[in-house]
Amino acid sequence: MRKPFVAGNWKMNMDAHAGVELAKAIAAGSVNIAGGQVDVALIPPFVYLQAVASAVTASHVAVGAQDVYFQEKGAFTGEISPAMLKDVGCAYVLCGHSERRHVIGEDDAIVNKKVHAAINGGLLPILCVGELQSEREAGQTEAVVSTQVKKGLAGLDGERAAAVTIAYEPVWAIGTGLTATPQQAQDVHAFIRELVAKLYDAELAGAMRVQYGGSVNAANSGELLGQPDIDGALVGGASLKAQEFLGIIKSAV
Ligand code: PGA
Repeated sequence: MRKPFVAGNWKMNMDAHAGVELAKAIAAGSVNIAGGQVDVALIPPFVYLQAVASAVTASHVAVGAQDVYFQEKGAFTGEISPAMLKDVGCAYVLCGHSERRHVIGEDDAIVNKKVHAAINGGLLPILCVGELQSEREAGQTEAVVSTQVKKGLAGLDGERAAAVTIAYEPVWAIGTGLTATPQQAQDVHAFIRELVAKLYDAELAGAMRVQYGGSVNAANSGELLGQPDIDGALVGGASLKAQEFLGIIKSAV
């Protein structure tokens, strides 16, 4: 019922040549593997968006951005608007990735503004949520995730909320090689879906895709994506290697 969605977040990696080669390899490889049964997106750094979008033209691979600013235009030096992202071929944008929250210092209010701006600009936001290790150890996982989802979606009616994908990424699992167990991940995904049902309705909750992220690779993706409420993956490190990323896409079919 929910089409799986696998996205590769390149973070601050690659260069123009390597990025285009990687994008071409993934576009070519995923046609054979997924045949349109899985939504696939590549999320390169801003400066490579246009080149990567050109490299995947005529494939079913989409392009997304790692961040967006919430204003339409104006004197915001260094920032990028939703319209600019559309202009260079983006369909998706990450909002509130854990590195934006915990390294750059974005709070839920800013993340919420970015989600609104993305939807207003015709982009599909991927709202990233997840608890720190200390929060999990203190038994606060559901409270933290609940706050981030509620504040991230605040002010969106059901029609607009339907544009959102949620990515559950426990911060302790990102880039650490520590993956949540399939059951740990499934439990939080089910919790998020129930929360969306309470905030909106069962139909929207049943249709909303919730990706898992945090040290996903081709070896562990099958079991994770096999969980009933895990609808795909947001992949960091393993998305930088074509064969590894294609393996993850394959496990989503
Ligand atoms: P990782 O990153 O796969 O390298 O853990 C995931 C993410 O931050 O989106």
